[in-house]
Formats: sequence, structure tokens, C-alpha cells
Amino acid sequence: MRTRVGIVGAGPAGLLLSHLLHLHGIDSVVLEVRSREAIEATIRAGVLEQGTVDLLSETGLGERMRREGFRHHGIELRFAGRGHRIDLAALTGGKAITVYAQHEVIKDLVKARLDAGGEIHFSVEDVNVLDLKSTAPTIRFRKDGALTELACDFIAGCDGSQGVCRPSVPPRALTHYERVYPFAWFGILAQAPPSAEELIYNLHDRGFALVSTRTREIQRLYFQCDPKETVADWSDDRIWAELQTRLAAGPGWKLIEGPILQKGVIGMRSFVVEPMQYGRLFLAGDSAHIVPPTGAKGLNLAVADVRVLAAALVAFYRTGRSDLLERYSESCLRRVWKAQRFSWWMTSMLHRFPGGDPFRHRLQIAELDYVTSSAAAATALAENYVGLPIELTGA
Ligand code: FAD
Ligand code: DHB
Repeated sequence: MRTRVGIVGAGPAGLLLSHLLHLHGIDSVVLEVRSREAIEATIRAGVLEQGTVDLLSETGLGERMRREGFRHHGIELRFAGRGHRIDLAALTGGKAITVYAQHEVIKDLVKARLDAGGEIHFSVEDVNVLDLKSTAPTIRFRKDGALTELACDFIAGCDGSQGVCRPSVPPRALTHYERVYPFAWFGILAQAPPSAEELIYNLHDRGFALVSTRTREIQRLYFQCDPKETVADWSDDRIWAELQTRLAAGPGWKLIEGPILQKGVIGMRSFVVEPMQYGRLFLAGDSAHIVPPTGAKGLNLAVADVRVLAAALVAFYRTGRSDLLERYSESCLRRVWKAQRFSWWMTSMLHRFPGGDPFRHRLQIAELDYVTSSAAAATALAENYVGLPIELTGA
């Protein structure tokens, strides 16, 4: 087997890269360890930045998103029992976010690739990336038990935080930066109508809570928990009681409850590897960096990376120039670190840290008060939340 770009992982990064390359006539093959059913059913992120929405629309993937997604022009920051609206659109010249689940984006991408005759191999095993420093890197894998080799010009490591690509780089070639947070998120899907028109990010003495949505009938809610806790520790009644306490905001508002359809605990860490390239292997998305979910940046960063990578590969195949590929890591990392900063800042402002340091808590309230009362501070939050621009320098 041979292709120009071998892509490891059919998450948002890998599938979108394959789609963007296809639109420029560059062939690729995507290898995925899980089944199509599994990747299309995994519940993850839900917030798409303006730039992500624009890119999906411009590349023919926006139809269902526009119909079924929810465009939100603001978010609410709630603390001390009171809500404060951040008017994203007014503060950013009309930009907004769209709430549309990651697995719906995945379904749209898989369909687009398969309809266009794209090659995605699901449920492959024993994936190995080889000869990364040569001009002919190879991916070896098993398909239906048979050992197969895929000869490539380039390999894109889009295999997420637990993949094989990053660990295939000699450790001395990479620098890791990491921060682990002393809390996690408990996430649920509930069958209920929306309790609010926009997302609510809430700080309470008992910890963080977030009200998000999926459809008119299904809601997505999160609350801060201990990272050692499991789904078994939280009965449905306990979950609703905790959410009601944390989100209480006077008599005019109540969280609407309903049957809980899904529960999960999400660990929180910040992680970056530098550089995002080794020879002809390019890392994109979660394989190169992880953000805590508070800023809703994980999926959007994966999209931004592959946009930069696709532009560099297109330039290479069109004109033979390799300078954009050489600058790939540097171009992405400038934006990655700003998203890391924003995610760390939102996380630090909105969570209760164990130990209950009253000084820190006062600072958090002061910060929230400042962000919700100063146009300058609110604008800084808004422009990061809707997404900083992607710089395609020299493309
Ligand atoms: P992934 O989506 O992880 O895709 C990688 C793909 O590679 C997977 O399909 C995987 O099966 C496959 N793969 C792995 N190893 C191999 C291999 N050896 N060979 C071939 N394929 C392989 N972000 C938010 O902003 N908000 C959230 O609420 C949020 N919730 C999350 C909840 C969970 C449980 C997780 C894990 C992540 C969450 N994220 C969230 C982060 C966001 O979903 C990710 O940033 C995003 O999925 C990154 O896309 P990706 O394509 O880089 O990686
Ligand atoms: C969702 C996830 C996030 O991480 C976030 O900050 C906002 C919303 C969601 O899954 O809807």
C-alpha cells in the first residue's frame, strides 16, 4: 500500500486533515484502532469556535451543523449566586460559538470522506510508525489479522493522547510540559429540556459546575469532583442535588432535571510537547497537547493544527517548498500556548482548590467580578473563547 500522507487516528484532527488534503487533490489513508460505531458514539466536547465553524462550512461540512447546532452569542458566568452575561458577539465584532457535539462532527467527517471515496481503515491493530527521519516513512499495522505496510511521504500523528506516534519519537528529541490539576469533571447527559439559552460557567463554594446543551431534548452538564471518584460514587439523586446546590441563583431560575443517560469522569491536565514534528512525522491535536476542558479548546486546537498542516502540505505538493512544513511546529505552538494559558486561567478562576485557601477564593471572586464588570477584561475573555485567529504565515 502507498499513499502521500499516512494519517494515524480518525479523531477530528485525522479526519479533517484527510478531508482538507482531498479538497486539494492530495491522497491520504486514515488508520483507526476503534470501529466506526465506537468513534461515532464517543461523547466528548461540544463547543466549536467561530473559526472551526467557518472552516467546516467553507469545506462543505456545515449543512447538518447549521441545522442541528446551536449558535450562542454569549455565555453566563455565575458566582455568588448571581449570573453575569458575557456578550461574545458584541465584544468580538459579531463572532459566536456553536454548540454541536464532537461525535456529530465525526459522523459528518466520516461520511464526507467515504462518500468521496476516501480510505479509512477502522479496527486496525498493532500500529507502528517507522523510518521517520527518512523521506519514505512507513506505517505497519494489522488489518483482519494480516500484517500490512503503508508507504508514505509523510505521517500525521493524529492518534490522541494515548496514541503510538508521540512515543515513537526518541525521548531526547522532545520536551514535555505538564500540569495536573487536583480535581476532575463529572459529566452527564440528561434527558431534559434546556435550562438556559446559553452556557453557564459557575463557581460555588462546593466547586465548579457547567450547564451546556446538546439538543432540545438532551442536556450536557458537568461538575467538579475529586479525581479519585468514579461513576459508582454518584447516584442520580446525589448528582441532581449537587448540581442544584451549586447552580442555585435565586427563585427565578431552576435547573430542569430528567433521566440521566450517561455518566463519566474526565481527568484534567495541561500538556504540551515541543516540537510537534520529528523528521517526517507531524503531531496534531491531542497527540501533541492536552488542555483542561474549561476553555472548550481541545477539539478546536486539533482543527487549528491540521489547518496549518494541510496548508503546509498543499504548498509542498504544489510548489515543492518545504519551509511551511519546517515552520509547522513553531506556527502551531504560538497559538497552542495561548489556548493553554486561557484554559489554565479559566480553570484556575472557576474551580475550588482542595485545602480551601480563603485568600485564593477571594482572588477568584475578585477576578470574576473584574471580568464581568470591565469591558477590557470581558473582551479578553470573549476573543479567546470564540477563538484566536489562525496564522497561516507565508501560505
Ligand atoms: P482524538 O479525538 O483523541 O482522536 C484520536 C483517535 O486516534 C481516536 O479515535 C483513537 O481511537 C485513535 N487512536 C489512538 N491510538 C491509535 C493507534 N495506535 N492507531 C490508530 N489510531 C489510534 N474537550 C473540550 O474542549 N471539552 C470537553 O468537554 C472535552 N471532553 C472530553 C472528554 C474526554 C473523555 C476526552 C478524552 C476528551 C475531551 N475533550 C474535551 C478533548 C477533545 O475531545 C479532544 O481535544 C479532541 O478529541 C482532540 O482530537 P484529536 O483528533 O486530536 O484526538
Ligand atoms: C462543553 C464542554 C466544555 O469543555 C466546555 O467548556 C463547554 C461545553 C460541552 O461538552 O458542551
